[in-house]
Amino acid sequence: MARTPDYFKGKTIAITGAGSGIGRATAVIFAREGARIVCGDINVTGGEETVRRVSAAGGEAIFIPTDVTKRDDVRRFIHIGRERFGRIDFLLNSAGGALKRSAFLEIDDALWDLSFDLNVKGTFYGMQEMLPHMLDNGGGTIINIASMAHKRGGPGTSVHYASAKGAVVTMTLGVAREFADRGIRCLSISPASVDTAFQAASGTSKEQAQRALNSIPMKRIAEADEIAELVLFMCSDACQFMTADTVYVSGGGGYR
Ligand SMILES: NC(=O)c1ccc[n+]([C@@H]2O[C@H](COP(=O)([O-])OP(=O)(O)OC[C@H]3O[C@@H](n4cnc5c(N)ncnc54)[C@H](O)[C@@H]3O)[C@@H](O)[C@H]2O)c1
Repeated sequence: MARTPDYFKGKTIAITGAGSGIGRATAVIFAREGARIVCGDINVTGGEETVRRVSAAGGEAIFIPTDVTKRDDVRRFIHIGRERFGRIDFLLNSAGGALKRSAFLEIDDALWDLSFDLNVKGTFYGMQEMLPHMLDNGGGTIINIASMAHKRGGPGTSVHYASAKGAVVTMTLGVAREFADRGIRCLSISPASVDTAFQAASGTSKEQAQRALNSIPMKRIAEADEIAELVLFMCSDACQFMTADTVYVSGGGGYR
């Protein structure tokens, strides 16, 4: 929660991957706080549904179809958001995914490249297109969604994904430190399993999901809201000395 009441009122967040899961939950929670939301996603139906949910809750959001692997799309996403709301205060890079589970020796070039295009380049484009605008405004906060996988390495199923999320954690650290004296804070969140479409989209088997669950002391996976509330706190004025780090949200698990 913010230190100042109404801290988010009239402020704007741009969210990639806003059409589902953590991105959508963050849109709805920021709307609850009175913020406006610029939603980007490759999935038009999902993006429009997020706008509908924000509007139904009395908030204001726009959706811009955006493929984060394409720089021009990301540039357009930020540009339209700025034109509509004048200023963007926060950026959440949530678009990402594991795409497919694969043993290390079976990861082919296409899977490797797409993992890095989506998770690393998408985040890189988001930050590079947003930062000049935030610097002009005298500051801003960027949150990147990484993954607990980066700490575990993804043996057997997801080295491509874990490596890409490792790059997200490192890129966050570098950007945070490069711009720390210019009003920019940049953080990443490394969740363990979260109950979203992600698991099905990455072809996670029942056995793999059960193994992940067994390794979590709380014996459940996270809700998307539980990640979104952390995004809200990180963007708030109650979190002003925090930058560069990744925060693990894991129910106590995931350290093996
Ligand atoms: N769900 C989990 O267990 C989990 C765990 C750790 C990290 N994460 C990370 O959290 C982030 C959000 O995932 P989620 O769990 O909300 O999954 P999700 O599948 O519900 O949402 C991901 C969204 O990204 C969008 N997307 C995919 N490719 C895109 C592209 N090229 N351009 C724009 N949008 C694109 C999808 O359409 C979808 O709406 C991802 O970066 C994911 O890697 C998820």
